[in-house]
Amino acid sequence: MEVRIALTGFGSVGKGVAEILLEQGIEYTETYGVDLVLTGIADRGGAVANPSGVELEEALRVKAAHGTVAASSRGKPGLAGNDFLREAQSQVLIEAASTNFEDAEPGWSYLRAAFANHMDVVLASKGALVLHFADVMKAAEERGARVLFSGAVGAPLPVLELADRMLVGAGITGFEGIVNATANQILSTMSAGASYEEGVARAQRDGIAETDPTLDVDGWDAAAKAVIIANAVLGGSLRLPDVAREGVRGVTRADLDDARSQGQSIKLIARAVQTGSGLRAEVKPERRPLADVLGRLRGSEMGIVYHTTRLGTVAATVAGTGGLSTALTVLRDVINLARERGWTQTPGR
Ligand SMILES: NC(=O)c1ccc[n+]([C@@H]2O[C@H](COP(=O)([O-])OP(=O)(O)OC[C@H]3O[C@@H](n4cnc5c(N)ncnc54)[C@H](OP(=O)(O)O)[C@@H]3O)[C@@H](O)[C@H]2O)c1
Repeated sequence: MEVRIALTGFGSVGKGVAEILLEQGIEYTETYGVDLVLTGIADRGGAVANPSGVELEEALRVKAAHGTVAASSRGKPGLAGNDFLREAQSQVLIEAASTNFEDAEPGWSYLRAAFANHMDVVLASKGALVLHFADVMKAAEERGARVLFSGAVGAPLPVLELADRMLVGAGITGFEGIVNATANQILSTMSAGASYEEGVARAQRDGIAETDPTLDVDGWDAAAKAVIIANAVLGGSLRLPDVAREGVRGVTRADLDDARSQGQSIKLIARAVQTGSGLRAEVKPERRPLADVLGRLRGSEMGIVYHTTRLGTVAATVAGTGGLSTALTVLRDVINLARERGWTQTPGR
């Protein structure tokens, strides 16, 4: 069955979605019985929309040459918001535009417009979930819409799937994780002998860190993910200021050398636990045994550990991250959404 998708944001994640669909769209169809069709792509310059499917090769070519998909043959400068969604005529919105933790735009407006247009939503952006988690869930429920957001919480790590599917009945009491690849890359480079500045430069060269790495090195990104995971998995109503936050700027080479001499590493750990007085969440650099499931993660590796009353600790780790793996995660959400909606035509897949 055809699943029509509107995409907001055509940066490394959005372009990754288009590239994957070009390369392995047929594989998705053959394996899962869904024909994933991008019917609209929006960036800051405008949008291109075609209910029969946007020409993806052209969109990628035009974006590279002119900086906006609005320069495509069917593109429209300034096309945005509700007008864009109406022209795209899609069932699903993939929201992969830049975001922030002040007003969560443009994602927050797109999300509400999508619900108003009876669409389901798959989010890579975090802003709306961090600032408006309960409202997002309520709006989705009122509209009978689904909202999936694996891409926003440490993609491609199966943070939400592990909790939702594998730990049903296990009694999750808390989690801890390495959910920010940039911070982990910087600490790994430093523990191999480099300075903090060299660690940041290497993460930027590898395409993991932003030009301005503040959100990553000061723990904002990890704290945002802790808020989303705690609210989604532990039923919390946390906000960003509720997370005690310390980044990696204060970690020195001497700290890392001292930790290593004692068989430990230093990792930026995001955590939330149920306590007698409610949920407690924090992000801070922490010493971990080198053999520990999180302590041994290097470079852009990430991991999540759930603590449960009936199964003890259950963990997942992944080798790396980046725009393409986030795009794969976003499409994983779309396929799982299609399964839930009964849009797939291959029984059992
Ligand atoms: N990269 C990752 O690995 C990763 C992982 C998890 C989550 N995310 C999240 O996913 C989102 C996209 O990340 P990215 O790495 O692809 O970022 P990016 O490369 O900086 O691209 C951001 C895209 O958003 C577009 N955009 C900004 N404002 C817009 C607006 N008002 N309307 C429509 N489009 C708008 C930009 O348009 P222009 O091209 O015209 O500037 C650009 O195409 C972000 O929210 C990010 O936090 C990223």
